[in-house]
Amino acid sequence: MLRFVTGNEGKVEEAREYLPMAVEQTDYDYVEVQSDDLAPIAARGARESFRELGGTEPVAVEDSGLFVDALGGFPGPYSAYAEYTLGIERVYRLVEPEDDHRASFRSVVAYAADADSLDEDVTDDDPDWHDGVTVEDGVAVATFEGTVRGEIVTPRGDGGFGYDPIFEHEGRTMAERSTAEKNAISHRGRALAKLADWLAAQE
Ligand code: IMP
Repeated sequence: MLRFVTGNEGKVEEAREYLPMAVEQTDYDYVEVQSDDLAPIAARGARESFRELGGTEPVAVEDSGLFVDALGGFPGPYSAYAEYTLGIERVYRLVEPEDDHRASFRSVVAYAADADSLDEDVTDDDPDWHDGVTVEDGVAVATFEGTVRGEIVTPRGDGGFGYDPIFEHEGRTMAERSTAEKNAISHRGRALAKLADWLAAQE
């Protein structure tokens, strides 16, 4: 069993599509460290959650955001804050018409487990399997990053959530796609697929 630490049931459902084990939603308010990068935020959150939730069952934490090239990656890890303070239309309007409109949705899934439960080969720092593993006090945390590239556009579509209406990928915004279509190309799906491959290599 894997505990997925999130208040968002949609993320848990997406995780169930990729992962071989039972995935249980767990609410736990871990401390979000400040960083311009998603990986340390997710990794620290997973380490703290694993410890505080008993230190036995593996734990996953996901952190995601929209990174706009012309804005030096803003809002990035501050995406949720920018969404509720500025709103997605204001974020869109920060990009001037003459600017490069390219952007990425990025997701990092951090997996924390007892280091003894993991195969040594898969904890080796091999980028084919993961984007980094740290072992501290017998707890291993591995991170997996998924990215989808696209462009920032004026809002279109009623589906999805968050920044979906202003993020266009291959001609349509994420909000113009069904959940299944979006999940098939999503940043989170790509990160979860990497975690699934890594877990499969341990069997
Ligand atoms: P969190 O990682 O769930 O806290 O999300 C961080 C921010 O990124 C929030 O503002 C979300 O609305 C936004 N976000 C995360 N994933 C997506 C997505 O798949 N589509 C649109 N916005 C997203």
